[in-house]
Formats: sequence, C-alpha cells, structure tokens
Amino acid sequence: MSAIIARDLTPAFGAEVSGLEPRIPLDEETIAILRALFDARGLLVFRNTPVDIKFQTYLSELLIGNDVPDPDALFVKDNFLISNREPAGAAPYGRLLYHSDQMWSAKDRVDLISLYGREVGQPTTPTMFVSAVEAWETLPDNLREMVEYRSAIQHYDPEVYRKRADGDMDVLVSTYDTGEDFATTPIAYTHPRTGKTILYVCQQTTQRIADLPADESDALLDALFEHLYAKGKELAHDWQEGDLVMWDNLALQHARPNVLVEGPARTLRKTLAPFPMASVKPNYGSVIEA
Ligand SMILES: [Fe+2]
Repeated sequence: MSAIIARDLTPAFGAEVSGLEPRIPLDEETIAILRALFDARGLLVFRNTPVDIKFQTYLSELLIGNDVPDPDALFVKDNFLISNREPAGAAPYGRLLYHSDQMWSAKDRVDLISLYGREVGQPTTPTMFVSAVEAWETLPDNLREMVEYRSAIQHYDPEVYRKRADGDMDVLVSTYDTGEDFATTPIAYTHPRTGKTILYVCQQTTQRIADLPADESDALLDALFEHLYAKGKELAHDWQEGDLVMWDNLALQHARPNVLVEGPARTLRKTLAPFPMASVKPNYGSVIEA
C-alpha cells in the first residue's frame, strides 16, 4: 500500500506530495500514483525529502517515461548545479524572466526539470512558476482566434529580452546564447504526453510571431504575456534544504527574482529528462539557469 498523500498548491497546478520513501526501485502502485499526479498537476513538491542524485535522476526519467528506467543504465550527473556558492555553479546571480528550457531548440525537448535543495540559506530567492496549460484554457476568445493556427519563432535576442523586463534592469540576466539556433513552434502546442494544449510562448526566448509585421507581433505577444503572467497566476516555491521539486517543462514556465552572490547560500542540484540530449552536453552546467 502506497503512503502517498498529495495536496494541491494552487487550483490550476502544483501538488505537495508527502509519504514518498525514496528507494530504487519504487513499487508499481507508487509509480502509477506519481505519474498520474505529475500529469494532472505539472509540478510536484517533496518537502524535506533527502535524495541522492541517482534517485533524483531515476524519478525524473520515471515520471515522463513509458518504461521504468533501468537504474544501472541511468546517465547520472552529480555536478549539474544552480549555485551562488559552488565555483562551477550556473546562474550564480541575477533575475531571470519566464521561460521553458530549450524552447528555442529545434533539436531537443526537455520534458521535465527537477531541482533539489542541496544547500539553502534563508531567506532565499524562490523559483516562480506559471501554467501555460491554464493560460491556454483561459485565453480570451479573441486572442485564441488570433493565434490558434499561428507559429512563433523561438530564438534568444538580448534586445527583445531587455524590452520585456520592467524594473530591476540592472540585475536582469539570461544565460541563453542560442547562437544561430532558431525553432518555429506552434503557439497552440500539443503536449506530447497529456494531449493538453499549451500556450507555447515565453518572455525569454520567443522572438516574434511568424508571418506578422513587427508591430503586430509585438502587440500580440504583449497581450499573450499579460494573460500568461497575470497577477495571481504565479506560484512561488520558497526553498528549504532537502526540497525536491519536479516540474513539467512544457506545461509550466519558470523564472526567478534576483539572486545575490553575497546572499544566503542557494545551491540547487538539477536534472533534465530525458537526458542526455543532442545539444545539451554534460558540461552544460555552466550555461543554464533556473
Ligand atoms: Fe531554466
């Protein structure tokens, strides 16, 4: 009998899960419950759940897969850190606007991100989330009609990014450098596992709407962002050491307010799933953020 208990964090998404005993392998009932919760809620928070990197990787692959991963075949990377303390840590400072990892990549798709609170001082900077599934479901009809069959050009452009940030410009950072990498993606993006529709544009790496003049594209994206990031839609995860947070990188977007190098320790161990990927090399830890 599984002891898993879940509590909704917002009406639209997120669940705090208790009762997980981190062991490999997990039993079939626990796996089924966790997979169903992940697809229904998009974000699972396990408070005070010390796990090693192997279990974190195992659970990451398990939640998005059809098969239970072979623990001996997992690609385990222990030094994939978001940190303002560790010398090789990524994104050691600054504020990041909303995005989904790799949205700009035509080669790779990140289905799941997890972060584990390895060293967390207080008060620390939260990770913020919004649901792009809820955003599509609640999109006003006039906006929906304007974008339903349109596509977006995904590419990091520093000038576009800076224009989207209001306030705190001096602490704004982006760790993306997409180079020549462009992807064209449907704005109404069908989630590959759940079949739900996602409003698939973000502040950080959506450059413009395809086949529209620049002013119309800008105005339409502004309206979409206003809806996506509206007040009351965000969930803040306030980190404690030993927190394990796993989210659907397609259904949800993440961001963070400013992090200071001289602030309280904030070292979060990250996994991506599926992993490894063609364009995300093991040394990618120096150029990503959360
Ligand atoms: Fe990120």
